[in-house]
Amino acid sequence: MLNAQQLTQYRRDGFLVLPGFKAAAEIAGIRQRALQIVDAFDEHSNRSIFTTNDQVRQTDDYFMGSADTVRCFFEEEAFLEDGSLRQAKHLSINKIGHALHDVDPVFDHFSRGPSLASLAADLGLGSAHIWQSMYIFKQPGIGGEVRWHQDATFFDTLPMTVTTFWFALEDATRANGCLWVQPGGHMGPLRERFVKVDGSKTACAMEALDGTPWPDEHSAVPLEASAGTLVVFHGLLPHYSAPNRSAISRHAYTLHATHAAATYSPRNWLQRTAALPVRGF
Ligand code: FE2
Repeated sequence: MLNAQQLTQYRRDGFLVLPGFKAAAEIAGIRQRALQIVDAFDEHSNRSIFTTNDQVRQTDDYFMGSADTVRCFFEEEAFLEDGSLRQAKHLSINKIGHALHDVDPVFDHFSRGPSLASLAADLGLGSAHIWQSMYIFKQPGIGGEVRWHQDATFFDTLPMTVTTFWFALEDATRANGCLWVQPGGHMGPLRERFVKVDGSKTACAMEALDGTPWPDEHSAVPLEASAGTLVVFHGLLPHYSAPNRSAISRHAYTLHATHAAATYSPRNWLQRTAALPVRGF
């Protein structure tokens, strides 16, 4: 799937941009399915928001219980003071997570197949475990910031193998909150680890590991990407996305996969049971 130059680039930069990886029809299929899931979601049933700025406080039973099912999370700015939604429900959801790829046939199909399997193998995941899928809306006007982080913070394996597959479902631009990355930043240390508190099923904590500063505007680059582009990146690559204050949404879909032979930490928040075993591409 990847040529020698692309592999060299990935090893040097920690990421690779693959324009045109997904066809428009496939993207339309999961966009439509995501809207159906949101339509079916009772906005009064749960008001869990998703924010990366206060992840520990926002971790609750609803979040922890989403490891093997499909749940909707609101944008942090979705609600007015009186508790009503600022925008229509379908313009208020931050993301759907975290087992779309295993419980929904449309997402299962989008998330697997020979092209992805071959790409994953090129990146060192010849035998993979796809732990998590997220449909991210980055809603117009209220799309939340995702602060600087490394995805290995959430998927600790020994050795470190987590790799991110980030699909642009709409054009991602600086205006609507595209990804920012630090080229080569994957050579640096893991700064923090998000793990279950010992003995707790629902409490998680962010453990500080290394004080290396996060990138700034001098070392980070924006990854503007047209719809259909796949960005793959290394678990240690620092990345960020700005709030979306524009009138245009920035839908994306992500998968997080590890090597099946690596030891997956029992302290990671996302665990699977025998009822829904983790699978590969
Ligand atoms: Fe991330």
